[in-house]
Amino acid sequence: MGSEDFGDRIKRQMNETGIHDAWEAMYRSDDNERFYELAYAKLFKQLAQPRDALALDIGCGIGANTARLARQGYKVVAADYSEAILPETKKNMERLGLADRVTIQREDITALSFPDGQFDLTLCWGVLMHIPAIDAALGQLARVTKPGGYLVLAEINPSAPEPRALRGYWRTLKRDKVSIEHKPCGFEHTSRFNDEALFWRHLDRDWTTKQFAGYGFEPAGRFAGHLFETFHYFKNAAVRNAIQAMNRFYFSNVGAAGLSSTQVLIYRKKA
Ligand SMILES: C[S@@+](CC[C@H](N)C(=O)[O-])C[C@H]1O[C@@H](n2cnc3c(N)ncnc32)[C@H](O)[C@@H]1O
Repeated sequence: MGSEDFGDRIKRQMNETGIHDAWEAMYRSDDNERFYELAYAKLFKQLAQPRDALALDIGCGIGANTARLARQGYKVVAADYSEAILPETKKNMERLGLADRVTIQREDITALSFPDGQFDLTLCWGVLMHIPAIDAALGQLARVTKPGGYLVLAEINPSAPEPRALRGYWRTLKRDKVSIEHKPCGFEHTSRFNDEALFWRHLDRDWTTKQFAGYGFEPAGRFAGHLFETFHYFKNAAVRNAIQAMNRFYFSNVGAAGLSSTQVLIYRKKA
């Protein structure tokens, strides 16, 4: 099967509800939201953009980050490929009283419909790791960001201890279920989910920075996300709480992205 077929299959999967339900169950919890509040406070302090600056939240999902952007004073375009999720996003914005600051629309990150240089901030949080056509996606993110504007990614950090350990585990004990290919853009994994192929990537930061440099971007910051992402494997609340407490401690007291399982990468497009 060619890579285009594979890409189409992943897109179809993103368009259905199952994968979104699984993500919500894994990641949407009070302790995680508390963590993200800390992360966004740090991000907004660093960006210091004016009120009513225009942001794109691409791959917005149910709109948790869209709401953070809107509350911070951004006008937001919340966009996702999934027709299954966008009605939820709309409901959430209405419930939170943010609908007047948010436009919701269906978009494919690999072929965005916006004009060049539209957004003061392009946010792509936990999305690129699921996109097979990475070159097209980076090109689009770069294109729609305004000169002088910011591009913010949240991605797995391939060289941190936990992702390394997970790759070791998949390669040795799960080799019948997970295949891993090491490419210049990172480690690409395929596995099975509900009898479908599931794709995820540990994105190489140096490669990403080089690609964005080609589009006129400079690195403008990097900080830690979760020290450990594997909290969602644990059903036991005490274990989970302990891991999340470590995540918050690390974030607030260390914050260096080198060891953390996820990282936030900030780029600025030269004016
Ligand atoms: C892991 S979720 C992250 C959601 C949200 N950014 C968050 O942090 O809560 C990944 C999101 O990317 C979206 N997505 C996947 N492929 C996409 C594509 N080609 N274009 C736009 N969005 C896509 C999915 O539908 C999903 O909502």
